[in-house]
Amino acid sequence: MERSCLSVILAAGESTRMKSSMSKVLHPVAGRAMIAHVMQAVAGAGVSAAALVVGRDADNVTKAAQRPDVQVEAFFQKERLGTGNAVLAAKDAIERGYDDILIAYGDVPLLTSETLNAARAELAQDVDVVVIGFHTANPTGYGRLLVENGELVAIREEKDATDEERKVTWCNSGLMAIKGAKALDLLNRIGNNNAKGEYYLTDIVEVARSLGGKTVAIDAPETELTGCNNRAELAYIERLWQERRRNELMISGVSMIAPETVFLSWDTVIGQDALIEPNVVIGPGVTIEGGAVIHAFSHLEGAYVSAGATVGPYARLRPGANLAADAKVGNFCEVKKAEIGAGAKVNHLTYIGDAFVGAGSNIGAGTITCNYDGINKHETRIGEGAFIGSNSSLVAPVSIGDGAYVASGSVITADVPEDALALGRARQEIKEGRATVIRERAKALKAEKSKKA
Ligand code: UD1
Ligand code: CA
Repeated sequence: MERSCLSVILAAGESTRMKSSMSKVLHPVAGRAMIAHVMQAVAGAGVSAAALVVGRDADNVTKAAQRPDVQVEAFFQKERLGTGNAVLAAKDAIERGYDDILIAYGDVPLLTSETLNAARAELAQDVDVVVIGFHTANPTGYGRLLVENGELVAIREEKDATDEERKVTWCNSGLMAIKGAKALDLLNRIGNNNAKGEYYLTDIVEVARSLGGKTVAIDAPETELTGCNNRAELAYIERLWQERRRNELMISGVSMIAPETVFLSWDTVIGQDALIEPNVVIGPGVTIEGGAVIHAFSHLEGAYVSAGATVGPYARLRPGANLAADAKVGNFCEVKKAEIGAGAKVNHLTYIGDAFVGAGSNIGAGTITCNYDGINKHETRIGEGAFIGSNSSLVAPVSIGDGAYVASGSVITADVPEDALALGRARQEIKEGRATVIRERAKALKAEKSKKA
Protein backbone atom coordinates (compact mmCIF):
# COMPACT_ATOMS: atom_id res chain seq x y z
CA MET A 1 0.00 0.00 0.00
CA GLU A 2 1.28 3.45 -0.83
CA ARG A 3 2.25 5.62 2.11
CA SER A 4 0.78 9.10 2.33
CA CYS A 5 3.17 12.01 2.66
CA LEU A 6 2.99 15.64 3.70
CA SER A 7 5.89 17.98 3.06
CA VAL A 8 6.43 20.90 5.41
CA ILE A 9 8.47 23.50 3.57
CA LEU A 10 10.13 26.21 5.63
CA ALA A 11 10.13 29.55 3.87
CA ALA A 12 9.53 32.06 6.62
CA GLY A 13 13.01 33.59 6.51
CA GLU A 14 13.53 37.33 6.34
CA SER A 15 16.02 36.96 3.46
CA THR A 16 18.02 39.81 4.97
CA ARG A 17 21.28 38.86 3.28
CA MET A 18 19.69 38.74 -0.17
CA LYS A 19 19.22 42.53 0.12
CA SER A 20 16.06 42.17 -1.90
CA SER A 21 12.57 43.60 -2.10
CA MET A 22 11.20 40.06 -2.25
CA SER A 23 11.54 36.82 -0.33
CA LYS A 24 14.61 34.90 -1.42
CA VAL A 25 12.58 31.80 -2.30
CA LEU A 26 11.02 33.84 -5.12
CA HIS A 27 14.38 34.49 -6.75
CA PRO A 28 14.72 32.47 -9.93
CA VAL A 29 17.05 29.59 -10.64
CA ALA A 30 16.96 28.50 -14.30
CA GLY A 31 14.08 30.89 -14.88
CA ARG A 32 11.71 29.98 -12.09
CA ALA A 33 11.35 30.65 -8.39
CA MET A 34 13.50 28.56 -6.04
CA ILE A 35 10.36 27.47 -4.19
CA ALA A 36 8.99 25.95 -7.43
CA HIS A 37 12.13 23.80 -7.74
CA VAL A 38 11.61 22.54 -4.21
CA MET A 39 7.99 21.80 -5.05
CA GLN A 40 9.04 19.76 -8.06
CA ALA A 41 11.40 17.69 -5.91
CA VAL A 42 8.74 16.97 -3.29
CA ALA A 43 6.13 16.19 -5.95
CA GLY A 44 8.53 13.66 -7.45
CA ALA A 45 8.86 12.01 -4.06
CA GLY A 46 5.16 11.20 -3.88
CA VAL A 47 4.10 14.14 -1.75
CA SER A 48 0.41 14.89 -2.18
CA ALA A 49 0.14 17.87 0.16
CA ALA A 50 2.57 20.63 1.04
CA ALA A 51 2.39 22.92 4.06
CA LEU A 52 4.32 26.09 3.33
CA VAL A 53 5.55 27.94 6.39
CA VAL A 54 5.65 31.51 5.23
CA GLY A 55 6.48 34.93 6.64
CA ARG A 56 7.51 37.68 4.31
CA ASP A 57 5.80 37.87 0.89
CA ALA A 58 3.43 35.10 1.96
CA ASP A 59 0.96 35.51 -0.92
CA ASN A 60 3.55 35.57 -3.66
CA VAL A 61 5.44 32.64 -2.17
CA THR A 62 2.24 30.62 -1.97
CA LYS A 63 1.39 31.49 -5.56
CA ALA A 64 4.84 30.53 -6.84
CA ALA A 65 4.59 27.16 -5.10
CA GLN A 66 1.36 26.10 -6.81
CA ARG A 67 1.36 23.06 -9.02
CA PRO A 68 -1.42 20.79 -10.23
CA ASP A 69 -0.22 17.60 -8.56
CA VAL A 70 0.28 18.90 -5.00
CA GLN A 71 -2.24 20.52 -2.69
CA VAL A 72 -0.52 23.59 -1.27
CA GLU A 73 -1.54 25.25 1.98
CA ALA A 74 0.21 28.21 3.60
CA PHE A 75 0.82 28.66 7.32
CA PHE A 76 2.00 31.93 8.69
CA GLN A 77 4.74 31.78 11.30
CA LYS A 78 4.10 34.79 13.51
CA GLU A 79 7.43 34.90 15.30
CA ARG A 80 10.67 33.32 14.16
CA LEU A 81 11.31 31.20 17.20
CA GLY A 82 13.39 28.58 15.41
CA THR A 83 13.03 25.70 12.98
CA GLY A 84 11.16 23.50 15.48
CA ASN A 85 8.61 26.23 16.01
CA ALA A 86 8.40 26.82 12.27
CA VAL A 87 7.38 23.21 11.58
CA LEU A 88 4.74 23.46 14.31
CA ALA A 89 3.17 26.39 12.45
CA ALA A 90 1.88 23.65 10.12
CA LYS A 91 0.36 21.74 13.03
CA ASP A 92 -3.12 21.67 11.50
CA ALA A 93 -1.82 19.95 8.38
CA ILE A 94 0.30 17.44 10.32
CA GLU A 95 -2.70 16.64 12.53
CA ARG A 96 -4.67 15.43 9.52
CA GLY A 97 -2.50 12.34 9.70
CA TYR A 98 0.10 11.22 7.17
CA ASP A 99 2.41 8.21 7.15
CA ASP A 100 5.45 10.36 6.37
CA ILE A 101 6.33 13.99 7.00
CA LEU A 102 9.14 15.45 4.86
CA ILE A 103 10.75 18.67 6.03
CA ALA A 104 12.31 20.75 3.25
CA TYR A 105 13.67 24.30 3.03
CA GLY A 106 12.43 26.76 0.42
CA ASP A 107 15.97 28.00 -0.15
CA VAL A 108 17.54 24.62 -1.00
CA PRO A 109 16.39 24.33 -4.62
CA LEU A 110 18.78 21.67 -5.97
CA LEU A 111 17.22 18.98 -3.83
CA THR A 112 16.23 15.87 -5.81
CA SER A 113 13.29 13.52 -5.49
CA GLU A 114 15.74 10.58 -5.27
CA THR A 115 17.18 11.88 -2.01
CA LEU A 116 13.72 12.47 -0.55
CA ASN A 117 12.65 9.01 -1.64
CA ALA A 118 15.72 7.51 0.02
CA ALA A 119 14.70 9.23 3.27
CA ARG A 120 11.13 7.94 2.92
CA ALA A 121 12.42 4.43 2.30
CA GLU A 122 14.12 4.53 5.73
CA LEU A 123 10.89 5.62 7.41
CA ALA A 124 9.22 2.58 5.89
CA GLN A 125 11.83 0.47 7.77
CA ASP A 126 10.39 1.58 11.10
CA VAL A 127 12.72 4.48 11.70
CA ASP A 128 11.20 7.53 13.45
CA VAL A 129 13.47 10.28 12.15
CA VAL A 130 15.70 10.27 9.05
CA VAL A 131 18.05 13.21 8.68
CA ILE A 132 19.58 14.06 5.30
CA GLY A 133 23.24 14.87 5.83
CA PHE A 134 26.16 15.86 3.64
CA HIS A 135 29.91 15.76 3.92
CA THR A 136 31.73 19.07 3.59
CA ALA A 137 35.24 20.41 3.89
CA ASN A 138 33.87 23.53 5.58
CA PRO A 139 31.29 22.58 8.23
CA THR A 140 31.28 25.96 9.99
CA GLY A 141 27.78 27.09 10.85
CA TYR A 142 26.06 23.76 10.27
CA GLY A 143 24.60 21.37 12.79
CA ARG A 144 26.90 18.33 13.18
CA LEU A 145 25.61 14.79 12.89
CA LEU A 146 26.73 12.70 15.86
CA VAL A 147 26.66 9.02 15.00
CA GLU A 148 27.16 5.94 17.18
CA ASN A 149 26.96 2.35 15.92
CA GLY A 150 25.43 3.44 12.65
CA GLU A 151 22.63 5.36 14.34
CA LEU A 152 22.25 9.09 14.55
CA VAL A 153 22.28 9.99 18.25
CA ALA A 154 22.10 13.80 18.08
CA ILE A 155 22.49 16.89 15.94
CA ARG A 156 24.65 19.49 17.61
CA GLU A 157 24.31 23.10 16.49
CA GLU A 158 27.60 24.95 15.99
CA LYS A 159 26.97 27.30 18.90
CA ASP A 160 26.25 24.46 21.30
CA ALA A 161 29.00 22.11 20.14
CA THR A 162 32.18 21.18 21.97
CA ASP A 163 35.53 21.62 20.20
CA GLU A 164 35.58 17.88 19.58
CA GLU A 165 32.08 17.89 18.08
CA ARG A 166 32.96 20.82 15.83
CA LYS A 167 35.58 18.65 14.12
CA VAL A 168 32.80 16.47 12.69
CA THR A 169 32.38 17.15 8.97
CA TRP A 170 29.12 15.28 8.42
CA CYS A 171 26.51 18.02 8.60
CA ASN A 172 22.79 18.47 8.85
CA SER A 173 21.21 19.77 5.64
CA GLY A 174 18.13 20.67 7.67
CA LEU A 175 16.00 18.33 5.57
CA MET A 176 14.51 15.33 7.28
CA ALA A 177 11.74 12.77 7.26
CA ILE A 178 9.64 12.09 10.35
CA LYS A 179 7.21 9.28 11.04
CA GLY A 180 3.83 10.94 10.72
CA ALA A 181 2.15 9.14 13.60
CA LYS A 182 4.75 10.42 16.05
CA ALA A 183 5.58 13.80 14.52
CA LEU A 184 3.37 16.08 16.58
CA ASP A 185 4.25 14.46 19.87
CA LEU A 186 7.97 14.70 19.11
CA LEU A 187 7.75 18.30 17.90
CA ASN A 188 5.75 19.37 20.96
CA ARG A 189 8.46 18.02 23.26
CA ILE A 190 11.20 20.21 21.74
CA GLY A 191 12.35 22.93 24.15
CA ASN A 192 14.43 26.05 23.70
CA ASN A 193 17.10 25.56 26.32
CA ASN A 194 20.16 26.21 24.12
CA ALA A 195 22.70 28.84 23.10
CA LYS A 196 20.25 30.67 20.82
CA GLY A 197 17.14 30.23 22.97
CA GLU A 198 15.38 28.84 19.87
CA TYR A 199 13.22 25.79 19.30
CA TYR A 200 15.64 23.64 17.33
CA LEU A 201 14.02 21.14 14.99
CA THR A 202 17.30 19.24 15.25
CA ASP A 203 16.50 18.34 18.87
CA ILE A 204 13.88 15.96 17.51
CA VAL A 205 16.62 13.33 17.22
CA GLU A 206 17.37 13.22 20.93
CA VAL A 207 13.67 13.51 21.79
CA ALA A 208 12.82 10.53 19.60
CA ARG A 209 15.63 8.44 21.10
CA SER A 210 14.63 9.30 24.66
CA LEU A 211 11.28 7.67 23.82
CA GLY A 212 12.97 4.57 22.42
CA GLY A 213 12.70 5.48 18.74
CA LYS A 214 15.25 4.79 16.04
CA THR A 215 16.93 7.69 14.26
CA VAL A 216 19.33 7.56 11.31
CA ALA A 217 21.11 9.86 8.90
CA ILE A 218 21.51 9.29 5.18
CA ASP A 219 24.03 10.99 2.94
CA ALA A 220 23.46 13.15 -0.12
CA PRO A 221 25.83 15.23 -2.26
CA GLU A 222 26.79 18.58 -0.75
CA THR A 223 25.96 20.35 -4.04
CA GLU A 224 22.37 19.13 -3.90
CA LEU A 225 21.90 20.56 -0.42
CA THR A 226 23.42 23.96 -1.06
CA GLY A 227 21.31 26.69 0.50
CA CYS A 228 20.92 30.23 -0.74
CA ASN A 229 21.49 33.20 1.53
CA ASN A 230 22.86 35.89 -0.78
CA ARG A 231 23.21 36.73 -4.48
CA ALA A 232 26.64 35.12 -4.75
CA GLU A 233 25.21 31.85 -3.48
CA LEU A 234 22.28 32.29 -5.86
CA ALA A 235 24.71 32.50 -8.79
CA TYR A 236 26.57 29.44 -7.48
CA ILE A 237 23.32 27.48 -7.28
CA GLU A 238 22.44 28.57 -10.81
CA ARG A 239 25.82 27.26 -11.97
CA LEU A 240 25.29 23.93 -10.26
CA TRP A 241 21.81 23.65 -11.72
CA GLN A 242 23.05 24.41 -15.23
CA GLU A 243 25.88 21.88 -14.94
CA ARG A 244 23.51 19.19 -13.78
CA ARG A 245 20.94 19.79 -16.53
CA ARG A 246 23.50 20.08 -19.33
CA ASN A 247 24.96 16.77 -18.26
CA GLU A 248 21.55 15.11 -18.23
CA LEU A 249 20.87 16.39 -21.74
CA MET A 250 24.25 15.34 -23.09
CA ILE A 251 23.84 11.89 -21.57
CA SER A 252 20.44 11.72 -23.30
CA GLY A 253 22.05 12.34 -26.69
CA VAL A 254 22.24 16.13 -27.11
CA SER A 255 25.57 17.49 -28.39
CA MET A 256 27.14 20.60 -26.94
CA ILE A 257 30.56 21.78 -28.04
CA ALA A 258 31.16 24.06 -25.06
CA PRO A 259 28.44 23.10 -22.56
CA GLU A 260 29.70 25.59 -19.98
CA THR A 261 28.55 28.40 -22.31
CA VAL A 262 25.03 27.06 -22.90
CA PHE A 263 22.28 28.29 -20.58
CA LEU A 264 19.08 26.33 -20.15
CA SER A 265 15.76 26.93 -18.44
CA TRP A 266 13.95 24.67 -16.03
CA ASP A 267 11.58 23.49 -18.77
CA THR A 268 13.95 23.29 -21.75
CA VAL A 269 13.31 20.22 -23.89
CA ILE A 270 15.98 19.11 -26.38
CA GLY A 271 15.78 15.94 -28.46
CA GLN A 272 18.41 13.40 -29.31
CA ASP A 273 21.02 14.40 -31.90
CA ALA A 274 20.30 18.10 -31.60
CA LEU A 275 23.48 20.20 -31.61
CA ILE A 276 23.79 23.28 -29.43
CA GLU A 277 26.81 25.36 -30.36
CA PRO A 278 28.65 27.66 -27.92
CA ASN A 279 27.13 30.72 -26.27
CA VAL A 280 23.49 29.90 -26.65
CA VAL A 281 20.95 31.22 -24.13
CA ILE A 282 17.65 29.38 -23.83
CA GLY A 283 14.87 31.06 -21.86
CA PRO A 284 11.67 29.44 -20.62
CA GLY A 285 9.28 27.56 -22.89
CA VAL A 286 11.68 26.22 -25.51
CA THR A 287 11.52 22.87 -27.28
CA ILE A 288 14.22 21.86 -29.72
CA GLU A 289 13.55 18.64 -31.56
CA GLY A 290 16.17 16.04 -32.32
CA GLY A 291 18.48 16.80 -35.20
CA ALA A 292 17.98 20.57 -35.02
CA VAL A 293 21.07 22.78 -34.86
CA ILE A 294 21.33 25.95 -32.79
CA HIS A 295 24.38 27.83 -33.99
CA ALA A 296 26.53 30.00 -31.77
CA PHE A 297 25.31 33.16 -30.02
CA SER A 298 21.62 32.57 -30.44
CA HIS A 299 18.92 33.52 -27.92
CA LEU A 300 15.67 31.51 -27.73
CA GLU A 301 12.60 31.99 -25.59
CA GLY A 302 9.11 30.48 -25.90
CA ALA A 303 10.11 28.93 -29.22
CA TYR A 304 9.62 25.59 -30.95
CA VAL A 305 12.34 24.31 -33.27
CA SER A 306 11.42 21.21 -35.26
CA ALA A 307 13.67 18.41 -36.44
CA GLY A 308 16.27 19.41 -38.96
CA ALA A 309 15.74 23.15 -38.51
CA THR A 310 18.73 25.43 -38.01
CA VAL A 311 18.93 28.63 -36.03
CA GLY A 312 21.66 31.28 -36.04
CA PRO A 313 24.44 32.06 -35.59
CA TYR A 314 23.27 35.24 -33.84
CA ALA A 315 19.55 34.60 -34.18
CA ARG A 316 16.82 35.57 -31.76
CA LEU A 317 13.68 33.48 -31.42
CA ARG A 318 11.07 35.17 -29.25
CA PRO A 319 7.85 33.76 -27.81
CA GLY A 320 5.63 32.12 -30.41
CA ALA A 321 8.42 31.48 -32.91
CA ASN A 322 7.56 28.11 -34.39
CA LEU A 323 9.96 26.59 -36.89
CA ALA A 324 8.71 23.62 -38.90
CA ALA A 325 11.00 20.80 -40.02
CA ASP A 326 14.13 21.88 -41.91
CA ALA A 327 13.30 25.59 -41.65
CA LYS A 328 16.26 27.98 -41.45
CA VAL A 329 16.57 31.18 -39.46
CA GLY A 330 20.00 32.64 -40.00
CA ASN A 331 22.26 35.36 -38.68
CA PHE A 332 20.82 38.55 -37.22
CA CYS A 333 17.23 37.49 -37.68
CA GLU A 334 14.50 37.99 -35.10
CA VAL A 335 11.34 35.88 -35.18
CA LYS A 336 8.37 36.54 -32.89
CA LYS A 337 4.93 34.88 -32.84
CA ALA A 338 5.43 33.47 -36.29
CA GLU A 339 5.28 30.12 -38.02
CA ILE A 340 8.13 29.40 -40.38
CA GLY A 341 6.97 26.59 -42.66
CA ALA A 342 8.84 23.43 -43.53
CA GLY A 343 12.05 24.15 -45.39
CA ALA A 344 11.40 27.90 -45.49
CA LYS A 345 14.46 30.14 -45.25
CA VAL A 346 14.89 33.37 -43.35
CA ASN A 347 18.59 33.64 -43.71
CA HIS A 348 19.86 37.12 -42.97
CA LEU A 349 19.08 40.37 -41.13
CA THR A 350 15.34 40.02 -40.98
CA TYR A 351 12.43 40.64 -38.61
CA ILE A 352 9.44 38.31 -38.89
CA GLY A 353 6.71 39.05 -36.34
CA ASP A 354 3.01 38.11 -36.19
CA ALA A 355 3.41 36.16 -39.41
CA PHE A 356 2.91 32.89 -41.25
CA VAL A 357 5.56 31.88 -43.74
CA GLY A 358 4.53 28.99 -45.96
CA ALA A 359 6.64 25.92 -46.63
CA GLY A 360 9.59 26.39 -48.93
CA SER A 361 9.36 30.18 -49.10
CA ASN A 362 12.50 32.27 -49.23
CA ILE A 363 12.67 35.49 -47.29
CA GLY A 364 15.44 37.74 -48.60
CA ALA A 365 17.99 39.59 -46.50
CA GLY A 366 16.71 42.62 -44.69
CA THR A 367 13.02 41.78 -45.00
CA ILE A 368 10.88 43.40 -42.31
CA THR A 369 7.30 42.57 -41.43
CA CYS A 370 5.95 45.95 -40.33
CA ASN A 371 3.57 44.46 -37.80
CA TYR A 372 2.95 47.41 -35.51
CA ASP A 373 1.13 50.63 -36.25
CA GLY A 374 2.01 52.16 -32.91
CA ILE A 375 -1.19 50.89 -31.35
CA ASN A 376 -2.15 47.51 -32.84
CA LYS A 377 -0.28 44.46 -34.09
CA HIS A 378 -1.18 43.11 -37.53
CA GLU A 379 -0.49 39.87 -39.37
CA THR A 380 1.53 39.09 -42.43
CA ARG A 381 0.69 35.89 -44.33
CA ILE A 382 3.10 34.51 -46.86
CA GLY A 383 2.05 31.47 -48.90
CA GLU A 384 4.09 28.46 -49.89
CA GLY A 385 7.03 28.72 -52.24
CA ALA A 386 6.95 32.53 -52.27
CA PHE A 387 10.04 34.64 -52.81
CA ILE A 388 10.48 37.91 -50.93
CA GLY A 389 13.27 40.02 -52.43
CA SER A 390 15.89 41.55 -50.16
CA ASN A 391 15.17 44.67 -48.19
CA SER A 392 11.42 44.49 -48.55
CA SER A 393 8.98 45.95 -46.05
CA LEU A 394 5.75 44.02 -45.72
CA VAL A 395 3.28 46.43 -44.16
CA ALA A 396 0.73 44.36 -42.24
CA PRO A 397 -2.02 43.41 -42.47
CA VAL A 398 -0.97 42.00 -45.79
CA SER A 399 -0.81 38.66 -47.54
CA ILE A 400 1.45 37.29 -50.23
CA GLY A 401 0.07 34.38 -52.26
CA ASP A 402 1.66 31.02 -52.94
CA GLY A 403 4.50 31.22 -55.43
CA ALA A 404 4.42 35.03 -55.62
CA TYR A 405 7.51 37.18 -56.11
CA VAL A 406 8.16 40.43 -54.30
CA ALA A 407 10.81 42.55 -55.95
CA SER A 408 13.78 43.65 -53.82
CA GLY A 409 13.37 46.90 -51.99
CA SER A 410 9.58 46.85 -52.21
CA VAL A 411 7.24 48.35 -49.69
CA ILE A 412 4.23 46.06 -49.91
CA THR A 413 1.02 47.58 -48.64
CA ALA A 414 -1.56 45.63 -50.66
CA ASP A 415 -2.16 41.89 -50.95
CA VAL A 416 -0.19 40.06 -53.63
CA PRO A 417 -2.09 37.29 -55.50
CA GLU A 418 -0.50 33.87 -55.97
CA ASP A 419 2.14 33.58 -58.67
CA ALA A 420 2.12 37.38 -59.18
CA LEU A 421 5.14 39.69 -59.20
CA ALA A 422 4.82 42.74 -56.95
CA LEU A 423 7.03 45.79 -57.43
CA GLY A 424 6.66 48.38 -54.76
CA ARG A 425 9.57 50.71 -55.45
CA ALA A 426 10.51 53.67 -57.64
CA ARG A 427 11.43 52.81 -61.24
CA GLN A 428 15.16 53.15 -61.98
CA GLU A 429 16.28 56.01 -64.28
CA ILE A 430 19.65 56.34 -66.10
CA LYS A 431 21.12 59.76 -66.92
CA GLU A 432 24.14 59.25 -69.20
CA GLY A 433 27.25 61.28 -68.25
CA ARG A 434 25.51 62.99 -65.37
CA ALA A 435 28.04 61.68 -62.78
CA THR A 436 30.85 63.57 -64.54
CA VAL A 437 28.85 66.80 -64.38
CA ILE A 438 28.22 66.40 -60.65
CA ARG A 439 31.85 65.57 -59.96
CA GLU A 440 33.17 68.63 -61.87
CA ARG A 441 30.73 70.90 -60.06
CA ALA A 442 31.91 69.56 -56.69
CA LYS A 443 35.58 70.06 -57.55
CA ALA A 444 34.93 73.64 -58.65
CA LEU A 445 33.13 74.38 -55.36
CA LYS A 446 36.06 73.01 -53.35
CA ALA A 447 38.62 75.10 -55.33
CA GLU A 448 36.61 78.25 -54.72
CA LYS A 449 36.43 77.58 -50.95
CA SER A 450 40.19 77.03 -50.59
CA LYS A 451 40.89 80.32 -52.48
CA LYS A 452 38.80 82.27 -49.91
CA ALA A 453 40.54 80.64 -46.92
C1 UD1 B 1 19.64 24.94 10.41
C2 UD1 B 1 19.84 23.70 11.25
C3 UD1 B 1 21.29 23.21 11.11
C4 UD1 B 1 21.58 22.94 9.64
C5 UD1 B 1 21.28 24.17 8.81
C6 UD1 B 1 21.41 23.86 7.34
C7 UD1 B 1 18.36 23.98 13.18
C8 UD1 B 1 18.26 24.34 14.58
N1 UD1 B 1 19.57 24.04 12.63
O1 UD1 B 1 20.48 25.94 10.93
O2 UD1 B 1 21.49 22.04 11.86
O3 UD1 B 1 22.94 22.55 9.49
O4 UD1 B 1 19.94 24.64 9.03
O5 UD1 B 1 21.28 25.04 6.60
O6 UD1 B 1 17.37 23.60 12.58
N2 UD1 B 1 13.10 29.17 9.41
C9 UD1 B 1 11.80 29.53 9.56
N3 UD1 B 1 11.37 29.97 10.78
C10 UD1 B 1 12.19 30.03 11.86
C11 UD1 B 1 13.53 29.68 11.70
C12 UD1 B 1 13.96 29.24 10.45
O7 UD1 B 1 11.01 29.47 8.62
O8 UD1 B 1 11.73 30.41 12.93
C13 UD1 B 1 13.56 28.70 8.10
C14 UD1 B 1 14.56 29.65 7.46
O9 UD1 B 1 13.92 30.56 6.61
C15 UD1 B 1 15.44 28.68 6.67
C16 UD1 B 1 15.41 27.40 7.48
O10 UD1 B 1 14.25 27.48 8.29
O11 UD1 B 1 14.91 28.42 5.38
C17 UD1 B 1 16.65 27.22 8.32
O12 UD1 B 1 16.74 28.27 9.24
P1 UD1 B 1 18.11 28.94 9.65
O13 UD1 B 1 17.87 29.96 10.66
O14 UD1 B 1 18.86 29.32 8.44
O15 UD1 B 1 18.83 27.68 10.35
P2 UD1 B 1 20.35 27.52 10.64
O16 UD1 B 1 20.70 28.23 11.86
O17 UD1 B 1 21.13 27.83 9.43
CA1 CA C 1 20.79 28.74 7.27
